[in-house]
Amino acid sequence: MESPAESIAGREALQASPLDGLLFEGVPLTQIARAHGTPTWVYGAGTLRTRFRRLRAAMPGVAIHYAVKALDHLAILAILAEEGAGADVVSAGELIRARRAGIPPDRIIFSGVGKTAPDLALALDHDIAQINVESAEELHLLSAIAAARGTRARVALRINPDVDAGTHAKISTGRAGDKFGIPIAQAASLYAEAAALPGITAQGLAVHIGSQINRTAPFTAAYTRLADLVRQLRQTGHRVATLDCGGGLAIPYNGEPQARPEAWAAAIQSAFGGLDLHLAIEPGRWLVGPAGILLASVIRTRRHGQARPIVVLDAAMNDLARPALYDSWHAILPVAPGHLTADAEPTDIVGPVCESSDILARARPLAPLPDNAFVAILDAGAYGAVMSSTYNARPQAAQVLVDARAGQPAGFTLIRPRQTIETLWRDEILPEPAGA
Ligand code: LLP
Repeated sequence: MESPAESIAGREALQASPLDGLLFEGVPLTQIARAHGTPTWVYGAGTLRTRFRRLRAAMPGVAIHYAVKALDHLAILAILAEEGAGADVVSAGELIRARRAGIPPDRIIFSGVGKTAPDLALALDHDIAQINVESAEELHLLSAIAAARGTRARVALRINPDVDAGTHAKISTGRAGDKFGIPIAQAASLYAEAAALPGITAQGLAVHIGSQINRTAPFTAAYTRLADLVRQLRQTGHRVATLDCGGGLAIPYNGEPQARPEAWAAAIQSAFGGLDLHLAIEPGRWLVGPAGILLASVIRTRRHGQARPIVVLDAAMNDLARPALYDSWHAILPVAPGHLTADAEPTDIVGPVCESSDILARARPLAPLPDNAFVAILDAGAYGAVMSSTYNARPQAAQVLVDARAGQPAGFTLIRPRQTIETLWRDEILPEPAGA
């Protein structure tokens, strides 16, 4: 298990200052917590830009369509749009969000197993770059909608290559039994059908085998199958122009060895490099995961005899669902300078929600912290705020962006205020009592 010192050393955005404690992109986290309270999500614009540029440099010529689902705040999308990113969206909401943040339609891909007729119509309204179709049924629906409008949809078929990504079962998408994509055995015949359907331009293939993939072997296995399929389709006279390689590149949460962007790029190039394809990727987690943290406060520490101390935070599973959902490990560090260096003892760190699964970390070395001490839950940018709920009538946490304006030191801006309690029921309708 990573020690607090290792957690800091391994993350570019973090530093420990003897005076100010934990800094995120140069800003003392204590300042942010005092200014805006806790729990609060904090995003680093610098980290986001650095990661986007690193990925782009590793993959020259490959279009980057950011998977909006990982973190969809307009400010985040706007930064990525400015960097030249496209978007991978999976709902009408994400499509409109991406457009609202300035991502041009010709850089938008629409993925997802459950696109409805209105979703497909919206994609046609916006004339987006590509719709990744996941089933014969969706293909026929899209063909009917596009033909009725006298237009053509640019389509890629998302293929299920039957490859195990070797990641957590709940975030695996490329095995034969998973609900995603067209079984590879049916791909050639459906592609031929797509090419002949009215209202459809069959332009390529797509694949996404899962998330938090930290080896290149599963990528290579999937891409090799897709490259064979490209050759097979071309041999039978079909045009295959685009290949969307999906997302899935892992980040180290606990010092695990990682597949680097350069290794992912090499897997893509070795499979598809010689095939004269327009290549795309759909990364989410790798771009935004390390660019976000969740700031929280200690409510109290409970000590029951010999058992481990239990620190109750004001952040919970309704804020960060990942530990409860996927048993995921997030580093949790104290923020004040003294607490960072004090002797640690194995501690359970929990939230106040009335569920046994509301545990953020078990047996984690942590210095004894006084009530109201701040802690930072790291690598929470991806699938953090977007998956939060108001369970237990807990308002959604505030969101803050750390950014450096030209020539000035980094400062921070509130980009979403903490939800107020009254707005929790703002849209609820109280029916008139019967007989009134
Ligand atoms: N493309 C498609 C079609 C996807 O379904 C996903 C993620 C991505 C791209 C981006 O994958 P990434 O690069 O972020 O791995 N909530 C889970 C992760 C769910 C991933 C869903 N699909 C978690 O917190 O681990």
